[in-house]
Amino acid sequence: MKLMKKVVLASVPFLLAACGNGESSTEEVTQSEQSSEETTKIVFARGVDTSIATEKFIEAFEESHPHIEVEFREMPSDTGEYHDQLVTAFSSQSSEIDVFLADTIWPAEFAQANYALELDRFIEKDDVDMDAHFDGPVKAGNFDGRQWAMPFFVDAGVFFYRTDIVDEAPETWDDLIEAANQYKGEEGTQFGYLMQASQYEGMVTNAIEFIASYGGKIIDENNNVVADSPETIKGIEKMVEVIQSDFVPENINSFTEIETENAWVQGESVFARNWPYLMGSSNNEEISEIVGNVSMTTLPSGDEGSASALGGWMLMINRYSENPEAAWEFVNWLSGEEGQKINSMNSTTPPTLSKLYDDEDIQNVSPLFADPEFREILHNSVPRPVTPIYPEVSDILQIELSKAINGDQSAEDTARNIQEKIENALNE
Ligand code: GLC
Repeated sequence: MKLMKKVVLASVPFLLAACGNGESSTEEVTQSEQSSEETTKIVFARGVDTSIATEKFIEAFEESHPHIEVEFREMPSDTGEYHDQLVTAFSSQSSEIDVFLADTIWPAEFAQANYALELDRFIEKDDVDMDAHFDGPVKAGNFDGRQWAMPFFVDAGVFFYRTDIVDEAPETWDDLIEAANQYKGEEGTQFGYLMQASQYEGMVTNAIEFIASYGGKIIDENNNVVADSPETIKGIEKMVEVIQSDFVPENINSFTEIETENAWVQGESVFARNWPYLMGSSNNEEISEIVGNVSMTTLPSGDEGSASALGGWMLMINRYSENPEAAWEFVNWLSGEEGQKINSMNSTTPPTLSKLYDDEDIQNVSPLFADPEFREILHNSVPRPVTPIYPEVSDILQIELSKAINGDQSAEDTARNIQEKIENALNE
């Protein structure tokens, strides 16, 4: 039975396009797409975009594809909340959303739950070269030997510092602690360091970075849970030391990326950890007090060097979409050179197409994109476990790590609980 299509009101109406210019489309459309209207409307969901990139790429797509109208549906910025809203919609087989931006940790789960449209037939039909993308995101979108998501942009945790306060970034976590104490207060700052310590997915990525920088891991390549190790414990201890210091905001345990961004662009801190998009916000004159005073580099090192968590966003199609062909046209364009370039130039998020790093316009967006060392960071960043039960794994990490962050549990007990609980979850 075909589900009734509901009328969708975009929460951000500024993107409604001036389409329907009467031009007939030469593209093939499926039966279901041949409605009385000349244009096919698809709904595209993503979390809050604080840059203008979404507006720009939708505009450009609609201009070059007048037979498709894209309506933007703004979802929560917290990846966990956004995830839960999608699950609610998809588990009732809703066709409201056609295309959605998916966190790198979702494809396996969504494929298994039958929420996603398999993309191989489209990829073959259009001869899309998957090798043109970085390996990590392609793998993240692959489950059971099939491709469920197209890479869109890659994220890696990075370190930001104020160049009007310090000449260079601290090398190690201990150097960071020293420098944050020393420079806090300069140039009107109130804090030495900002990170994401709220009980949510972003905190998990911060923790993975601390842990990996001391050589620790949660799950290894062979799917063994290896969390209960001296290395993991050291990483957790260092994270807790930073969080409990008095150079971070007192309410750091309610900080996500958004709070970090707000405090940072208002010039409140000397250092911060976030994803590369913060570079764009830092230099955005409309919101930033620190334009031209920010540099971005690798995170401080533990005993085993510096580690960045692998993040990023992929494009997926709702299995119940009534417009799969138009949805794919959008996905294919957006994950291709043109779409990725517009996105990266307007949001300072790193593309997944290696070729774009040689593009002069992209290199001009951020000096880091031209830096081979940065490409290494992206290549070597630490993935989160790829498993269809990732939400459960993440919940365990969030709960146990928060206890450590709030001083309610030692790092040793935290590592032991994580080990036991994840083992149980995987064995169920
Ligand atoms: C960023 C990353 C994503 C991660 C999220 C956590 O959006 O790209 O992979 O899960 O942050 O908050």
